[in-house]
Amino acid sequence: MASRNIPVTQCSKPTGWLGRYTLWRMNASHSKLTDWGLQHVSIEKQYTILDVGCGGGRTVSKLAAMATQGKVYGVDYSEESVATTKKMNAQGIELGRVEVRHGSVSQLPFADGMFDLVTGVETHFWWPNLTGDMREVFRVVKPGGTLIVIAEVYKGANTLASRLAEKYAAQTGMTMLSVEEHRELFSSAGFSDVQLTEERGKGWICGLGKKPMANS
Ligand SMILES: C[S@@+](CC[C@H](N)C(=O)[O-])C[C@H]1O[C@@H](n2cnc3c(N)ncnc32)[C@H](O)[C@@H]1O
Repeated sequence: MASRNIPVTQCSKPTGWLGRYTLWRMNASHSKLTDWGLQHVSIEKQYTILDVGCGGGRTVSKLAAMATQGKVYGVDYSEESVATTKKMNAQGIELGRVEVRHGSVSQLPFADGMFDLVTGVETHFWWPNLTGDMREVFRVVKPGGTLIVIAEVYKGANTLASRLAEKYAAQTGMTMLSVEEHRELFSSAGFSDVQLTEERGKGWICGLGKKPMANS
């Protein structure tokens, strides 16, 4: 039982040597999913971007390679994830183009309206208070800015990974939402122009929402 739980716990909050190994694995295994998801959003060179639940830091480095005149922040509540993201992005940090902070999505250590884009890859299903946490993300997005959430499991996807994640959600603490429930989640947090895209054969999902301009 314990051994079956270790990998799941390490995915939700990596710690110690097993956490470092898990982060290394996730950097490799989430790369194609991340590239697919990021195709759905336009990323401008001067953007200020936040990657929530930055894990091993590969998404932060992908974003930094796109926002070449901007700045990319990573945040994670796992000390191991923060350390690994810092290591992977050492050059970007040195150049002042990347910054990584320790913190929870429930209380982001950033000012209101700071980001053109917020990304969350394979993380939102672990958040402790999904509705409240989406509102907290909404707070830090600039008016006119975008949130993109990318995942390789969701409720109703016809893949083994999604079926297992759904079956064991009560034990793992994952929140598994359907496409429609994702749409409602984005809308109830205040996002407009909500778009959900599925890559059905792979069970991938990408959700996008915009923070309305102040006067719209
Ligand atoms: C499955 S990993 C994904 C990591 C990375 N985004 C990737 O795609 O490889 C989930 C990450 O989200 C982080 N995370 C989970 N819940 C969080 C929370 N409440 N606040 C901040 N980070 C969180 C975990 O610590 C972990 O690093």
